[in-house]
Amino acid sequence: MAGFLDDIEPLKQTASAELKAAPDLAALEQTKGAWLGANGKFTALMKQLGTLPKEEKPAAGKLINVAKVELEATLAARREELQLAAALPKEPTDFTLPGRRRALGKLHPLTQVTEDIVRAFRKLGFAVADGPEIEDEYHCFDALNTPADHPARDAQDTFYLATNGADTAPLQNTPAVAAVCDRRLLRTHTSSVQIRVMKSQPPPVRIIVPGRVYRRDNADATHNPTFQQIEGLYVDKGVTVGDLKGTVEFVFKELLGSDVKIRFRPHYFSYTEPSFEIDFSSALVKKMGKDWLEIAGCGMVHPQVFENVGYDPAVWSGWAFGFGIERIAMIRYGINDIRLFYENDVRFLKQF
Ligand code: DAH
Repeated sequence: MAGFLDDIEPLKQTASAELKAAPDLAALEQTKGAWLGANGKFTALMKQLGTLPKEEKPAAGKLINVAKVELEATLAARREELQLAAALPKEPTDFTLPGRRRALGKLHPLTQVTEDIVRAFRKLGFAVADGPEIEDEYHCFDALNTPADHPARDAQDTFYLATNGADTAPLQNTPAVAAVCDRRLLRTHTSSVQIRVMKSQPPPVRIIVPGRVYRRDNADATHNPTFQQIEGLYVDKGVTVGDLKGTVEFVFKELLGSDVKIRFRPHYFSYTEPSFEIDFSSALVKKMGKDWLEIAGCGMVHPQVFENVGYDPAVWSGWAFGFGIERIAMIRYGINDIRLFYENDVRFLKQF
């Protein structure tokens, strides 16, 4: 008995030293097998326990168990050490190497221009409104007093959505028919949102509407089948053309510099009376070899439009305008081809 008990401590010491000295995880597992595995030297000791006299078994068993728990703890500690070492980089780290830089993205130039326009109008108390890009004829045309025979109603200009084989041929375009037929289209301008906003709230109204519009145009240097517009609408009592001119001038000077000149030229839009086109002049326009560049349509809201949305034209007056954001961005940055905005070439985009 004495010999057996005396064996435990030295065996444990040797096993412990071997476990601690294992150079890597594979060696550690091997050492573990050699001592604690089914045929291990320490396991053999436990097997000898059975040969002891009955009264000596408890004390000897306890001793062996304590040693085994100790060895298992040593094993776990070494395993953790080696796992950590294995996870560390094999090569030394050179902290003097410069880091890898990520290129910072930027807002698209059209987004920058839109945000600047919105910021300028916010200073005047305008709120941003929104509407669907898939519209119906009523909001896009009828309610805006655009009669059925107007060229803008021609399928040449408008993308109509054919649903369930519905007839997309020109229909009798009265508001009543349009409401019943509900022919869908991709909005050709943001003016449709004027109707949606006025129908959803009583006057006064002071909104701007940036958004995407669609037309059946072939892409060239100045056209693209989809582009961005910004619409403005101001309805209150006693609003005049003077308010319209003052507002437009303020915004364009904010946007394009104080040397810009604005000119209003008589025009026709079915939803405004009188209607104007806004021409614009600046040093940059002169550089492009022109005196004036047309950039927007506008006018005083037509009384029929007020009738259509349930506003009393005898009480309320207002102005509206709409212009293309690409146009403004092209003037601002001196860009000569609209298609550059949509190609997503970082060499182009990174300049703004
Ligand atoms: N909707 C017109 C277009 O797309 C622009 C426009 C003209 C908007 C006159 C208006 C307006 O609000 O009053 O060409």
